[in-house]
Amino acid sequence: MKDKKIITGLKPTGDLTLGNYIGAIKQMVDMQDKYESYLFIADLHALTVYQDPQELKTRIRKFIAMYIACGIDPSKNIIYIQSKNEYIPAISYLLECSTPYGEASRMIQFKEKSKENASFSVGLLTYPILMAADILYCDCDYVPVGIDQKQHVELARNIAQRFNNKYGYTFNLPKPLLSKEGMKIYDLKNPLKKMSKSEENPVGVISLFDSVDDIVSKIMSSTTDSIGTVKYDQKNQPGISNLLNITSVLTNTDIDSLEKQFANKGYSEFKKYVAEVVSKHIEAIQNKYYEIVNSDYLDEVLSQGAELSKKIAKEKYELIKERMGL
Ligand code: TYM
Repeated sequence: MKDKKIITGLKPTGDLTLGNYIGAIKQMVDMQDKYESYLFIADLHALTVYQDPQELKTRIRKFIAMYIACGIDPSKNIIYIQSKNEYIPAISYLLECSTPYGEASRMIQFKEKSKENASFSVGLLTYPILMAADILYCDCDYVPVGIDQKQHVELARNIAQRFNNKYGYTFNLPKPLLSKEGMKIYDLKNPLKKMSKSEENPVGVISLFDSVDDIVSKIMSSTTDSIGTVKYDQKNQPGISNLLNITSVLTNTDIDSLEKQFANKGYSEFKKYVAEVVSKHIEAIQNKYYEIVNSDYLDEVLSQGAELSKKIAKEKYELIKERMGL
């Protein structure tokens, strides 16, 4: 009997990366037997910046197929597209009305992104509240995310707590769940920056759609240091530490054992090993992906997921409205 629920989502922007896989998808795969699991494509979240409509449509389908190819089992997860559930933005509006502007504008991601673009959309500010609606409607217990989303999950928890205090118990309080090793995967060229699917210069980003040749060349030319020992030292050897993290997660080997395995060996030998591990892993995922991306099976999975999530969200929406006096 699964008595705890988890939920997570990914924005369909750029191509899914090794960072998303390790930071979010793999965690969900590892947990799907233990928890009641919800997984969705956060397509509404993608709209805070302009998306080409046709490309967005194609990418949403690619993302879902990729989730399943990565090991997400549709019989163990409720899988859906966020925008197919109209109760979620409706809940988001109600939560916006009980979230202070100051609290929303203190979110680190909002502060950073609003600085990058002077004509940022209002959606960028309300983005974490929509995320709170995603998380709170289904009364989940844990939200597996990478560290960059931790603050947003904590905001969802604050919003829930405040709402419960003001209007009476309505929401379960969720907690972020961060994977230890793969908490944050960094760009291979600039290992001080997270590996991001929105990165314009993809030489440091491994996409789950990359060819084996590209993966090998990106890893072989990744930035390291002049120390010369394969050792986990985030401060002085961020590039090597990143490669150790990636390898540790993908091979289920702890970092100590990897350090021992590569003691007295050069970076080039270590990188060759990392490249082989990563490319084998991604190749297997891609084979599965091409089997399902155009299948009717995918449509069935999505339609079932939308129905189930809508049923749950509708109940919560009615309860919130009732609590607020609507
Ligand atoms: P998004 O699409 O940017 O990223 C999806 C998930 O992948 C994690 N992640 C990483 N983890 C480790 N290393 C990286 N380099 C890396 N890059 C991304 C992210 O932390 C995230 O867990 N706002 C969310 C989507 C969302 C959501 C939600 C998530 C919308 N509603 C509700 C959880 C619950 C986002 O933009 O993630």
